Amino acid sequence: MKKIKINGGKELKGTIKISGAKNSAVALVPASLLSDGIATIDNIPNISDIGALNEILEFLGAKVTRENDKMIIDQSNLQNKEIPESKAKKLRASYYFMSALLGKYKHVEMYFPGGCSIGARPIDQTLKGFRALGAEVIEEGNKFIINAKELIGNEVSLDMPSVGATINTILVAVKAKGTTTILNAAKEPEIVNVATFLNNMGAKISGAGTSEITIKGVSKLGDGFAEVIPDRIEAGTYVIAGALVGNKLKIENIIPDHIESLTSKLKEMNVPIEIYDDYLIVSKVDKMKKVTIKTLGYPGFPTDLQQPMTTLLIGCSGTSTLEETIYENRFQNVPFLNEMGADIIIDKRKIYINGPKELIGKEVIATDLRAGACLVLAGLKASGTTIIKDVEHILRGYENIIGKLTNVGADIVLVDE
Ligand code: EPU
Repeated sequence: MKKIKINGGKELKGTIKISGAKNSAVALVPASLLSDGIATIDNIPNISDIGALNEILEFLGAKVTRENDKMIIDQSNLQNKEIPESKAKKLRASYYFMSALLGKYKHVEMYFPGGCSIGARPIDQTLKGFRALGAEVIEEGNKFIINAKELIGNEVSLDMPSVGATINTILVAVKAKGTTTILNAAKEPEIVNVATFLNNMGAKISGAGTSEITIKGVSKLGDGFAEVIPDRIEAGTYVIAGALVGNKLKIENIIPDHIESLTSKLKEMNVPIEIYDDYLIVSKVDKMKKVTIKTLGYPGFPTDLQQPMTTLLIGCSGTSTLEETIYENRFQNVPFLNEMGADIIIDKRKIYINGPKELIGKEVIATDLRAGACLVLAGLKASGTTIIKDVEHILRGYENIIGKLTNVGADIVLVDE
C-alpha cells in the first residue's frame, strides 16, 4: 500500500506546470474510437486513470502508441467486445466507451462504471439520451445491453446539466441520422475539448460550452487531432497550495478564465494573486476573510475544488460556509481535517468552518481523489508530519504530484510499504 508522507510548514516557491486535464483526457480517449482513421491526442496527463483506459483500448483491439505526452490510437482492428466488469469498474469514464461503441456499432454490452465513491452517481440521464436516439436499453443487474436498429437524431432535454450525459449523448449522436439537440447541456470546458476533437474528425457539433448543443449526424469520421486543455482542477489545487504556504508561487500553463470562480473567491478572501495570460502568481497571507461558497456546474465554483478549498477556509477569520450541491457524500475529508485541528461542522449538504485554526500533522486516509488532494494541502500547511493512506486515489488524477511539489520546496515523499 502506498502512503504519502509530508513534513509540513515549508514555504513553496518556484513554478508548477499544469498538465492536461484528467476529465478531458478520459473522454477524448474513448471518443477516439469513433474515428475511422487514426486519432492523435496531445498533452495527455500521465495518471493512472489514463492507464486504465489504455488497457480497455488495447482489450478492444486498438493499437496505442505513446510518445511522451502524445497518444496515437489506430482502431483499424477494433472489435466490439464486452469490456470486463473489473475494467469498467476502475473509473467513471469507462462509460464513455459505452456511448462511443454504441455510436459506432449500434450495439454495446457493458457494466456500470466505477469512480470515486462520493454519492450515488446514477447514469439515468445518459440512458435517457440513448433511448431518445432510438436505442433499447436492457438492464441485467449491473450490466447494460443496448441495441439500436438505427440511431436517429432527436431532442434530448437533460433533467440536470450532467457532464457525463452531455458527452455520452454527443458521442452517440455524431453518427446518428439527422439532428440531435441537447437542452440543459453541461457547459464545462472539457465538453468543448471533446466537441472540438470530434469536429476535427468531421463531426458537425455546434454550441458546445453553452446549454444548447446541436449535433448534425455524419456517416463517417476521419483522422482526428486533439490537444488536452490544461487541468483546471489540478491548477486550482496548486493555486490553493500557494494561498496556504506559497511565496510568489507561479502556476503556469493555465487558462485563467477556467478557474475564475476560484480566483475571484481568493481575491474576496484577500489572498494576493496576480493573473496573467497563461499563468498566475500566488502567495500566502496572514489574515484571510471568511467566505460563503456553493458548488455549481461550470462556470460556478467546481465541486472538484470544494474539498481542496476547505483546507484553505480553516485559516479564515470567522465562520465560512461551503455548500455542496452536486454530490451527497463529498465531505469524507472533514473528520480527518478535524482530527488535524480544524473546527468544521457538517449539516446535511453544508459545512461550517470555524477559523482560524492551526493544523497539526496526523495519520489520515484519502477516501477519494479530491479528499486526498485536500489532505495533501492540509499536510503542507500543518506543523509536524502527516501520513496519508490509500493514496492510489490521488495518483488517479494528479500527474507527478510528489515531483511537482518537491520542486517548489515541499518535503513530501511517496512511501511504498
Ligand atoms: N447525475 C444524475 N444522473 C445522471 C448523471 C448525473 O443524477 O445520469 C447527477 C450525479 O449523481 C451528480 C450530478 O448529476 O450528482 C453531476 O454529475 P455529472 O454527470 O455532471 O458528473 P460526471 O460526469 O459523473 C464529471 C467528472 C467529475 C466531476 C463532475 C462535475 C469525469 C470523469 N468526472 O463527473 O470529476 O465532479 O463531472 O463536474 O469527468 C473528479 O475529477 O474528482 C470528479 C469526480
